[in-house]
Amino acid sequence: MGQFEQSHWAEPDFSRKFVESADIAIVERKRSHAIMKSFFRHQFMHKDGRIDLLDLGCGDGILTYELMQTEVPLSATLVDGSEEMLGKAKERLKDYPDILAVRASFQELIGGKVIADDFDFIVSSLAIHHLDMKEKRELFGWVYARLRNNGCFMNIDVVLAPNEVLEEWYMVLWQEWITEKKKETGITGDIYGDTMKRYKDNRDNKPDSLDSQMDALKAIGFRDMDCYYKYGIFTIYGGRK
Ligand SMILES: C[S@@+](CC[C@H](N)C(=O)[O-])C[C@H]1O[C@@H](n2cnc3c(N)ncnc32)[C@H](O)[C@@H]1O
Repeated sequence: MGQFEQSHWAEPDFSRKFVESADIAIVERKRSHAIMKSFFRHQFMHKDGRIDLLDLGCGDGILTYELMQTEVPLSATLVDGSEEMLGKAKERLKDYPDILAVRASFQELIGGKVIADDFDFIVSSLAIHHLDMKEKRELFGWVYARLRNNGCFMNIDVVLAPNEVLEEWYMVLWQEWITEKKKETGITGDIYGDTMKRYKDNRDNKPDSLDSQMDALKAIGFRDMDCYYKYGIFTIYGGRK
């Protein structure tokens, strides 16, 4: 799997730590899921038949699980490079029919590894920023090709601030979020204190600006694109085929 195998995500312990800390370390994680659910309901509630969903970099399957809680009938394909994460996703979704878990890296998908279906809704959360801009463009092109007409793509992800001044403030904003969450949940001590530094120092994180990603979607042919939500470096954006 090449590049994926060299990333921290190939280490089971790294994945486990992410899952344990995500609700505190990731800004507005629950709200992001709620926004995606609202969009999903709004777009697909009146469509006949089952909706085919693809979750890219599914992790422990949280996003698909949340979408499964709506009244819209759904079949889901979950992709992740990590066997460890796919195992957690299968466990979380074990009571749901119509779930297919595929171990593949994004690089393999771009390179032609076949996923059999086309999809109505392709989603991702906090995974695509692990690709460089060239790979992001290629993955967006792949997503466009796998979407049915009128199908939608939505990505919850971190982005690079437009300039250093804002980047600096966004890190402060992130720190303030963590402090607030720690207070709410009664966590004391310096735990999570180095979250921003670890994010910055991690060579697997390759965020690009929101504008460059929106431009890439536009160039590929997506329409109705927008940034649906933004809180510092945490964003939700997407478009329609
Ligand atoms: C930060 S976690 C997010 C997981 C989940 N989507 C969530 O929001 O909780 C990133 C996920 O992307 C996967 N990932 C990272 N780089 C990848 C790549 N190049 N190809 C496939 N999966 C990748 C990791 O294994 C991990 O499960």
